[in-house]
Amino acid sequence: MIYIKNAQQIEKIRLSGRLASRTLDMISEHLKPGVTTGELDKLVNKYIVGHDAVPATLGYKGRGGSVPFPASCCISINEEIVHGIPGPRALADGDLVKIDVTTILDGFYGDTARTFLVGDVPEAGVRLREATRKSLELAIAVVRPGTRLGDIGAAIQRHVESQGFSVVRDFVGHGVGLQFHEDPSVNHYGSPGKGVKVKSGMIFTIEPMINEGSYKIKLLDDNWTAVTADGKLSAQFEHTVLVTADGAEILTLS
Ligand code: MF3
Ligand code: CO
Ligand code: CO
Repeated sequence: MIYIKNAQQIEKIRLSGRLASRTLDMISEHLKPGVTTGELDKLVNKYIVGHDAVPATLGYKGRGGSVPFPASCCISINEEIVHGIPGPRALADGDLVKIDVTTILDGFYGDTARTFLVGDVPEAGVRLREATRKSLELAIAVVRPGTRLGDIGAAIQRHVESQGFSVVRDFVGHGVGLQFHEDPSVNHYGSPGKGVKVKSGMIFTIEPMINEGSYKIKLLDDNWTAVTADGKLSAQFEHTVLVTADGAEILTLS
């Protein structure tokens, strides 16, 4: 079932989304070679809790009875696609670092991720990041009542494949707001004119994961971290998006 959110709910999700975005602003100041991902996670926790919110990933149980996620954000580096677990690893010059933050503020969820460049990143990584960022922008631009989910996926796929990159299939965007992961699933590839029609008041994430090489993934032994099967780079951007009467509003802005 796809929820249609009312004005009060939308305002609360907007506030939570703003906090999630501001958390990323805060952490972006700390991304220097030598800092560990565990230290970054502590800062994220402190910031979210300090704003009377809860990090949604901490203790989150995915499908299939896997181990609860042990941290307040996901940090995924280079060939890691998503769901990287913060720990003792230090950032290094040239790293492509994806950080994904989900806040629960007053019971409402905001979910956003960005890819950051640490120091001097090779040209391929810079291009991959920009293609991913642009694909999310193009996807949001097609959102309005009557748009189909396939139109959103197609907008992403068309752009990134034209740049020689590939769209990860195994993870999707999702309805969000009252719960962490609601219906519908939002594929980041697809056919124009296919899929569910979006309606005013729907809120979902669009969160393309784009690979430098093949879109195939592997899951690490920690049962969370997804990496590219070929070891090449991956990038991601994510926004929580509201369908309005005549377009879309990004709810994860600072
Ligand atoms: N924030 C991720 C998403 O965009 C989900 C992370 S779940 C976790 O849907 F358990 F890995 F943290
Ligand atoms: Co999400
Ligand atoms: Co997320």
